[in-house]
Amino acid sequence: MESLHGLTKGTELEPMIKNFMTGEANGTMMYYALARLAKEQGLEEVAEKFIESANQEAVHAGFYATLNGKYPKDFWKLAETVMKAEYCGESQVKAMAEKVRAAGFNKASDEMEIFAKQEYHHGEVLKEILKKYRPERVETETPKKIYVCPVCGYEYEGEISEEPDDWNCPLCGQPKSAFKEKSALKVKAVKFFENGFMTQPFACGLEDGVEKFDANVKYRSCLQNFVIDNGKEIILVDTGTPDDFPEQIPDEKTQIYLGEKIKNYVDALKDLGYEPEKVSKILITHKHPDHTGVIEKFPNAKIFISRVEADAMNLNGENIVRVDFTDGAYKNFEKSQKIADGIYYIFAPGHTTGNSIVIVEDGEKNYLIHGDVTYTDEALYMNKLSVATEDKIAARDTLNKVREFIKNNPTIYCSTHTPLGYENIENQKIIDLDKMPEPIPPKEISAKKATGKYICGICGYVYDPAENNGVKFEDLPSDWKCPRCKQSKENFNKA
Ligand SMILES: [Fe+2]
Ligand SMILES: [Fe+2]
Repeated sequence: MESLHGLTKGTELEPMIKNFMTGEANGTMMYYALARLAKEQGLEEVAEKFIESANQEAVHAGFYATLNGKYPKDFWKLAETVMKAEYCGESQVKAMAEKVRAAGFNKASDEMEIFAKQEYHHGEVLKEILKKYRPERVETETPKKIYVCPVCGYEYEGEISEEPDDWNCPLCGQPKSAFKEKSALKVKAVKFFENGFMTQPFACGLEDGVEKFDANVKYRSCLQNFVIDNGKEIILVDTGTPDDFPEQIPDEKTQIYLGEKIKNYVDALKDLGYEPEKVSKILITHKHPDHTGVIEKFPNAKIFISRVEADAMNLNGENIVRVDFTDGAYKNFEKSQKIADGIYYIFAPGHTTGNSIVIVEDGEKNYLIHGDVTYTDEALYMNKLSVATEDKIAARDTLNKVREFIKNNPTIYCSTHTPLGYENIENQKIIDLDKMPEPIPPKEISAKKATGKYICGICGYVYDPAENNGVKFEDLPSDWKCPRCKQSKENFNKA
């Protein structure tokens, strides 16, 4: 089908076509309103005629919008934005319906609740369409600038200054001047373990003593490292666990269980769209294997690591950069090294003697990728240190500085060992140290796995080591029999 897109854009016809377009759009609204009123008076046939006209007017409005190039010809990005808006529309319409109900207009409110569901349905339809028909996106070498509408989130691709002064948001009508350039910076979590837990004494017990904390209080745990994509280069912060990192079997004594492996680190990175060859720099927070697991798998990357940690790991090679933090102070931290514009590698010892953190500036806000300064964000809010600390005095100083930074600078806190690490990014949550969110308990499955109990598959008898002088099921003799049904050991399953 021959395209009429943008035929009149930029010509003297454009303003006149625009008037036609808005006239027709208003006509659609008017005819549907009339159809409604006709129905209310029982004039079904009249209503139908009005609806027929309304639909034709809608077609005309869409025609003029196409002539003037109101919407981008390559509409997939727009469709994605509209999908999000439709999903949000559900809650907005619902909220409005509640207000209408509170005002005493129940009938109107009932109908609006149906609309809310329809908005959501539009989102679903768009989601399906995008999944089924959207062409594969080709990464362009020079990414286009993107400007975002502050009200509806519409994303304009290209140079917005080239649009006429009276250009406004095609979705919500906001003026051009309201649009803000979208930052090219992305900080993403590379997730590779999930559904673990840690105990409160482990996460908080260093200074006050573990006995001051409740071992029955468990926080969620997992394992992810982070990738920084600033539009110019791909920088990793830490590189996961070795592929053959042993799976942990938690039991009742387990202090921290990272959970089940989702996939190997490099595969998780690839799933985010980053090939190892494209990584230019790796910033290592510290020497532990869950942070340095596969540093050898990035052929084109320079590896930045504090001298203390590099020496502790006995790292050598042309791509190893021993960092001495010679760029002086960064904000309230004494020793830093600038890695790229807005990306700072900062000495922050304590968890290990050569520990570092990374701060990424993004306009008003900052991402703080800290390795294991705290194991869970609850410890940050509570101002507690984990027992997993090499240098207690340095760790206290570092935590003080991290908290001071967060107080003075809007910060998204990116942790390694709690799902809050990526949830904070997803929700763009700025940490307020005085408002600790209600902790979410770990999944039941982790707690169950930690019991060490076995169930007889025949009679359901539960073998609990605690009732058998602590003897693990695995350590029972091979001719051991179920005390209830006398079946053999092989019939038992892990509880
Ligand atoms: Fe660590
Ligand atoms: Fe760690």
